[in-house]
Amino acid sequence: MEPQNRHRTIVVMGVSGSGKTTIGKRLAALLELPFEDADAYHPPANIAKMKNGTPLMDEDRWPWLETLNQRMQQWEQGGVLACSALKESYRQLLSKNLSIHWVYLEGSMETLLQRMEARDHFMKPEMLQSQLDTLEPPSYALNVSISNRPEQMVSEIIAKLGTMQSDLGIVGMGVMGRSLAKNALNKGFKVSVYNRSDPKEAHILPNFLKEVPPERVLGFDEWEGFVNSLSQPRRILLMIPAGTAIDAVLETLTPLLAPGDVVMDGGNSHYRETQRRMQNLASHSIDYLGVGVSGGEEGALKGPSMMAGGSETAYKKVSHLLEAMAAKEPNAKPCAALLGPDGAGHFIKTVHNGIEYGEMQLLAELYALLRGLISYEDIRTLFQQWQEGEAQSFLLGLTAEIFSKKEGGSYVLDKVLDVASSKGTGVWSSIAALESGVPASMMVEAVLARHLSGAQGTREVWAKLRPVPKTVKQIAPETLLKAYQWARLVNHLQGLELIQIQSQKENWNVQLSEVLRVWSVGCIIQSKLVQQLQQQLSQHASLWELEWVLAQLPEGLEALQEALQWGLTQQTALPCFSAAWNHSGGLTTINSPANLIQALRDAFGAHTYQRTDRPLDQQFTTNWKDHGA
Ligand code: 6PG
Repeated sequence: MEPQNRHRTIVVMGVSGSGKTTIGKRLAALLELPFEDADAYHPPANIAKMKNGTPLMDEDRWPWLETLNQRMQQWEQGGVLACSALKESYRQLLSKNLSIHWVYLEGSMETLLQRMEARDHFMKPEMLQSQLDTLEPPSYALNVSISNRPEQMVSEIIAKLGTMQSDLGIVGMGVMGRSLAKNALNKGFKVSVYNRSDPKEAHILPNFLKEVPPERVLGFDEWEGFVNSLSQPRRILLMIPAGTAIDAVLETLTPLLAPGDVVMDGGNSHYRETQRRMQNLASHSIDYLGVGVSGGEEGALKGPSMMAGGSETAYKKVSHLLEAMAAKEPNAKPCAALLGPDGAGHFIKTVHNGIEYGEMQLLAELYALLRGLISYEDIRTLFQQWQEGEAQSFLLGLTAEIFSKKEGGSYVLDKVLDVASSKGTGVWSSIAALESGVPASMMVEAVLARHLSGAQGTREVWAKLRPVPKTVKQIAPETLLKAYQWARLVNHLQGLELIQIQSQKENWNVQLSEVLRVWSVGCIIQSKLVQQLQQQLSQHASLWELEWVLAQLPEGLEALQEALQWGLTQQTALPCFSAAWNHSGGLTTINSPANLIQALRDAFGAHTYQRTDRPLDQQFTTNWKDHGA
């Protein structure tokens, strides 16, 4: 896109000590324009006078101002000049044949003296006073107060000049917002960031601006400047907590936007809310995308997975940004994609999190099984060995790290309270599974296990009554690994089935292999298993009947059975391993006991049932209490 900052001649003016050079240089760097300091153009006679401390007269200044004017006329695409330009007559001469944007750095005598002291730049108060007396403040200039920090002053100038030039605007400078902004800057984009001016958050913006290259970032704590600093169509990424905060921001932001602008919600929003917001913004001709962003702080900085949902038109406007920022597959393909229309992106991210809950719960259960038998060091070694093979995953690697972390000789893990929190996405994915009739038991069990961990008081009472195990069976680490891998496979298939069913219901046409591709690098559940599933799914359609899955079934199930038996003898609760077994056990049962459920339903409520000896489109009811026949 053609930058819109061309042919701009800007003069930053003000008395000595107002910061013309600092501001002018920053402004020029941001706008990619040349910078000139007027002091460098004084003729030798003026320099000699100034050295002697002889004040310059207007006659001394005319040739100098003439040179400056000619210099500025030579700028091909504009530029920034720092010049005191105190009098109207000086400015008229400077403006000959030019249309200049005047920026006046305004400050009181007191502020100016304070600033000079802070910079160890001494100037006699009388001299400053004489400059202030000479000054004829221009009514047409953009007045900028010097009491703000330089980076804020520059942001204000750019916004007020209407120099729309940032490629991306990010709202919310929390951990994820900051990391994504740095990521975009590292990819060469110009970024404007917004963080609210809440006193508790006052440090966030200045601290962030100190950490990033000043020539490509603008920071704002007010909306108008932020919006005006963006190139059109504006591309804005919201990185704020899901829920009412999004609606509040949209309410403020929408009237400031123009048709064709794109707003992206990069948080963990509920897909129904995303659908509602998308429709609402569509009535203002503003595009909205729900973008699931996964990978935590490091992922956001170095390359996250980005699961977008919305219209193709909207995605096309931001794909270059998202795809540059996203993690890359080994073949350099970005792990960012439009996975479906409206709420699809946020729904897929929700299920990603449901799978993430299952993966984490399986790791917690492994830890529960192993900690009574081997040391943390041995657990770490075992997990590191597993990490070298098929079980490789981001979360397994991270778990091994946790088993190495000590504080004053003792493991930090032992100091972590054993009550798991959650922010809601696991519950949402479980609800979606229950509503859609998908038996995604592992995410549900993982959520329930977190809930149960909260029953601390009862746990203390019950733990005292727990019977002592009579025998402790041993299990070979290879068997445990097989059980773990099989349970993980079930967890992933359950999640994928949930996406598939939801996609059919909503008519989203989500391609599971593309979802897995986006999950293959960058996100929290990235793993070898995800990559293997992606390869398998690009060739086959039916999840539960993939030959690759069926080939692992007998051994996986046997190992799972052994692990559960072992867990039971140790009296270790294994909700997710059990759920994996129950799902597999259910699917390996030809005659399920559900006929009794149907009989009972019919017996107490005449709910009818289908018969195995009659066509399935017929329903039957029986008087179950009449035993006469
Ligand atoms: C990710 C994560 C992230 C999520 C955390 C915490 O993909 O980067 O899923 O989005 O917020 O994992 O989730 P809980 O607090 O619900 O465990």
